[in-house]
Parts: sequence; C-alpha cells; structure tokens
Amino acid sequence: MQRRIVVTGAAGFVGSNLTKLLLDRGYAVRGIDNLSAGTAENVDERLEFHAIDIRAPEIYPLFEEADAVFHLAAKTCLPECVSKPLEAASMNVMGTLNVLEAARRAKVRKFIYADTSAEYEGIKEFPTPEEHIRPIGIYAASKHGGATFCESYRELYGINVTILRYFNVYGPAQDWRRVIPPVMSSFIIRMLQGEQPAIYGTGEKRRDFIYVDDVNDFHLLVLEDQRTDGKVFNVGSGINFSVNEIYKLVEELLKTGLRPIYKPDLPGEAQITLADLTSAMALGWKPRIAITEGLARTVEYLKSRVLKSEVSSLGAK
Ligand SMILES: NC(=O)c1ccc[n+]([C@@H]2O[C@H](COP(=O)([O-])OP(=O)(O)OC[C@H]3O[C@@H](n4cnc5c(N)ncnc54)[C@H](O)[C@@H]3O)[C@@H](O)[C@H]2O)c1
Repeated sequence: MQRRIVVTGAAGFVGSNLTKLLLDRGYAVRGIDNLSAGTAENVDERLEFHAIDIRAPEIYPLFEEADAVFHLAAKTCLPECVSKPLEAASMNVMGTLNVLEAARRAKVRKFIYADTSAEYEGIKEFPTPEEHIRPIGIYAASKHGGATFCESYRELYGINVTILRYFNVYGPAQDWRRVIPPVMSSFIIRMLQGEQPAIYGTGEKRRDFIYVDDVNDFHLLVLEDQRTDGKVFNVGSGINFSVNEIYKLVEELLKTGLRPIYKPDLPGEAQITLADLTSAMALGWKPRIAITEGLARTVEYLKSRVLKSEVSSLGAK
C-alpha cells in the first residue's frame, strides 16, 4: 500500500527538496506551509498542498492515515527571532506542540523533528557529539523548546520521535531573498549579479555545511529504518569551512574578480560548528557530495532558475 507522509514547512528550502524526493519515490505526500517564508514556486505541482498555519486546529484532519510526519515548519531567520522572540516561540514551540498533537490524535507511527546544530551554541567540543547541548540564542532556545515537547510526547503518549540536528544545509531552493540570507546562496546570487558579497564579521567563523541531497538520503533512511526510532542524530558533513574559504571556492567557480565587503558581526552566533557523525554513519549513511560539487550544483540552479526568471519578469514589465 502507498505510504502517506505529512511534511510541514513544505514550501521552504529543505521541505521542498524533501517533498520532491518523496514524490519521486512514490510516497503520497501532504504538504503544509503558511508561506510566511517559503514560496509557492517551491511547491511541486504533484504535491497535495495546504496553505495553513501549523498553529491552527484545521491541520488535525490532514494527519489522518499518515504513516509519518516530517516537522520542518519553523521560524528560521535568526535576526527575526532576535527581534521577535515571542513570535519565534509561538511558531517553533507552540507550532511544534500543535503538530505533535495532530500526530497524536491521528496515531501517526513516526514523527521526525528538524532540530538544529544551534543546540550546541555553548558547547566547545569539536567535532560535537549528540550528548550535550547548550542552546543560547532565541532561535536555538525555541527549537529546543520544540524538541523538549517531542520528547514529552514520546515519553507520555508513545509517539515514536526521531530528532535530526541539521548543521548548515545548502543547495537548490535555499532562500536568497532574505535580508541576511544563508551564506551560500547569498554569495552566489550577488556575485552572479555583479555585486560584492557581504561577509558579517571577519569571515573566520567555521561552519559544517551539508548539501541538501545528503540530508535527504538520511531522511529516507530514517523513514524506513527502525533503528532510528527514538534517537537523536547529527546531520552534517563532518568537515567545516570558514566563510572566507567559501567565498574563495565560489569565486574559483565564477571568476568574477569581486571582493567581499566586510560588515559588522552578527551577535550570538557560534564561532565553530562541526558534527560528530558517528551515530548517523553507524547506520550505513555517509555524506557523498563534496563542497565543490555542491556549490557547482547550487550555482547551476541559481543561474537557470533565479536569473532566468528575473530576466523574463523584467522583459514582461
Ligand atoms: N537550512 C538549515 O541549514 C537548517 C539548519 C538547522 C535546522 N534547520 C531546520 O530545518 C527546518 C527547515 O529549514 P529550512 O532551511 O528549510 O527553512 P525555511 O525557512 O526555508 O522553511 C521553513 C518553512 O516553514 C514555514 N513556516 C514557518 N512558520 C510556519 C507556520 N506557523 N505555519 C506553517 N508554515 C510555517 C515557512 O513558510 C517556510 O516555508 C527548520 O525547522 C529549521 O529550524 C535548518
């Protein structure tokens, strides 16, 4: 029988890549997203899509007969979380609670929660294993609140929760329009448009970047492999790069001659992230896409989808 999966945050970066893969693999997929950050163009035409807020009780019927839930919807923009902490908590804590409640009522077998490496903000052990966390910022605290409710639902109601702590995911469909966009797409799009990329701080912060297809490989494994039930996994590449190194790699690909502009540092960000992947790799998964390959694929996507559509919308004016 065809298996039914609910994906929240389906119009966002990771959610849109995930729904496409699940549809390709023959799953019946329901997507939920209020389009507060995600975009309609990210929604696959094959998807049964519902433009609803995850905090609304109207989501409950959408979980009926679902075999699994990937809960990805969240307020993800760090500066917005800092300027609107109540809204961050409302979406990331109360929103998660309502999705858990929907899954409990519908007796969904498996619940996969998109947690974050920001849980490790105050931890100075590298590579960082899953055991110890110390969230500090508003985004991290709100995602931690959601994760804590996941654990309560597991303990009290027997919902089978798997928590994934993504590191810096990059690839096609990452939002390059935000005020302070995620680093990869922001560099590439600015440089493709002939503008200098912006680096906040010295550019020496190091991040563990993982290509979205590698994350998706792990999503499929989690869905099918019962050894992941009730566990927490880091999902990163196990290698980190400084922001300056990423700029150099992008420049090697694009050869624009554009130098970065250095702007004041963004407060509250960790200096280093680096995943210990022992638990995930013990299941037979490993990241496959090297940074050079991932960046080249992201450049191709941005060139073909974003620049082309900008040119055609200019032509239409
Ligand atoms: N991308 C990363 O590097 C990364 C790293 C760590 C954790 N994560 C987590 O992975 C998940 C997906 O991240 P992403 O990068 O795709 O983010 P994203 O912002 O692109 O996607 C999140 C989606 O959730 C939707 N959303 C937000 N609030 C909602 C609400 N109240 N109701 C319905 N929909 C709502 C947004 O419209 C958006 O489409 C998030 O939970 C995030 O915390 C992502």
